[in-house]
Amino acid sequence: MNMNTVNLQLSVNGRQVNTDIDPRTLLVQLIRDQLHLTGTHVGCDTAQCGACTVHLDGRAVKSCNLLAVQADGAQVTTIEGLAPDGELHPMQAAFRDCHGLQCGFCTPGMVMSATALVQERPNADAATIRAHL
Ligand code: FES
Repeated sequence: MNMNTVNLQLSVNGRQVNTDIDPRTLLVQLIRDQLHLTGTHVGCDTAQCGACTVHLDGRAVKSCNLLAVQADGAQVTTIEGLAPDGELHPMQAAFRDCHGLQCGFCTPGMVMSATALVQERPNADAATIRAHL
């Protein structure tokens, strides 16, 4: 570690990550550029669109709007972490079955947001789900 970096330790999709990074690194940059988990997309880069949504300790967060150091010690799950063995997560299967996508660019973020909602509010009604997404 040099003077311009900080040490970061976190779990990403169940894998321990221990790395020295520039403290200005965004969480999405760590995920995409350093860990090469490119299923997390950057759409607006201004915390508006949700394409970059991942789970941080089980809660949906926009990874373009967090510094990687804010995830120190946390458990991060990306879209790749939902299907570690290549079998679709039930939410991914539901999106596929219902053709729940448009161009597909934001779909990983939509799936991550939807899975967090189901975990937090398993009895959410249709209106709540619509408003959440
Ligand atoms: Fe749009 Fe993060 S890239 S909210």
